[in-house]
Amino acid sequence: MKALIAAGGRSTRLRPISYTLNKHLMPLANRPMLSYVFDRVAEAGITDVIVNVNPGEAETMKNVFGDGSRWNARFTYVEQQGGANGIAHAVANAEPYLRGDSFVFFLGDNIMAGNISPLRRRFEEEGLDCLIALSRVKNPNRFGVPEFGADGTLLRTVEKPENPPSPFAVTGIYFFNDRYFDGFKTMTPSARGEYEITDMITWFIQNGKVGHEEITGWWKDTGKPDDLLEGNALLLDELAMNETSIQGSVDDTVQIQGKVTIGAGSVIGPNVLVRGPVVIGERTRIEQAYIGPYSSIGNDVTLRNTEIEHSIVFDAAEIDCGKRIVDSIIGSKTSIRSTQQSLPRGHKLILGDHGVVEL
Ligand code: G1P
Repeated sequence: MKALIAAGGRSTRLRPISYTLNKHLMPLANRPMLSYVFDRVAEAGITDVIVNVNPGEAETMKNVFGDGSRWNARFTYVEQQGGANGIAHAVANAEPYLRGDSFVFFLGDNIMAGNISPLRRRFEEEGLDCLIALSRVKNPNRFGVPEFGADGTLLRTVEKPENPPSPFAVTGIYFFNDRYFDGFKTMTPSARGEYEITDMITWFIQNGKVGHEEITGWWKDTGKPDDLLEGNALLLDELAMNETSIQGSVDDTVQIQGKVTIGAGSVIGPNVLVRGPVVIGERTRIEQAYIGPYSSIGNDVTLRNTEIEHSIVFDAAEIDCGKRIVDSIIGSKTSIRSTQQSLPRGHKLILGDHGVVEL
């Protein structure tokens, strides 16, 4: 079995950050989002991994994740051809690499707690053509949704229905055999102009043997800023299972509560309270500050005279503002300063397109 991982797309809902950084590279608990997907695939014993990327991004992605040896796998980066025509089309684009095999198709912005090995086993043992993983959600209308008959049989899956026929999302973790490529030939784009993966699943339901399985651990599609924060928090909770690890230098005036990781070369103190779960990267400088639960602070960050909680701070940001920052995503090399010393007083903003500020 192979894996195809979707790591392209424009991620308009994550602007302005996605203008300069592919969303799959955004840090969650200080690791690029996509690295968690590679963890899941590697755990399932899959070593042949195709990564679908935007045109022109293969080198960037390869520079970050390498050839796959970190996951004992072989990665092949394939640039999307023929434009952005929906994720079902992204799979068709990878046909030359997948023909003759079964594969798990994993959307790179889906993070989950569980191991996908039981799904793989079931797909193989039952000789299924397709297996979908479902998750019970509050807002199924944002996702692909399965529709069941009165006897519980899976009838079809529909994309972002106004009136969801069930309380489940079809998660972005799909198992297919290579009949996929025959099915795709019969597809036409949906009203929004995309080849829908839900239409492909419906084709499999009508033409093959399809299984479905509810995943009970947490699962998150990180499409919007709030989802990134939630994903970050879920991953930090996982970290809480491990040991606190403190490298760098932490002075006597620093209080550390709960599970906290501090990277090499960081200097923490004086007068800092860190209340975990929190991760702090390498070479970061923090003083006169409170770092509250569910915060990820990147590498080379400077953070002074500030309280921050439930937030993600990317590498090399500088924050020194005498304020409390919550539920925020602070991009790389961003500067947040105090107006105390400067005239005229007032909020001074240099914001990129699609920025969001609550004052
Ligand atoms: C895509 C799929 C949808 C699926 C979701 C899971 O939607 O089209 O069927 O439920 O991923 O993450 P998107 O998040 O790209 O809008």
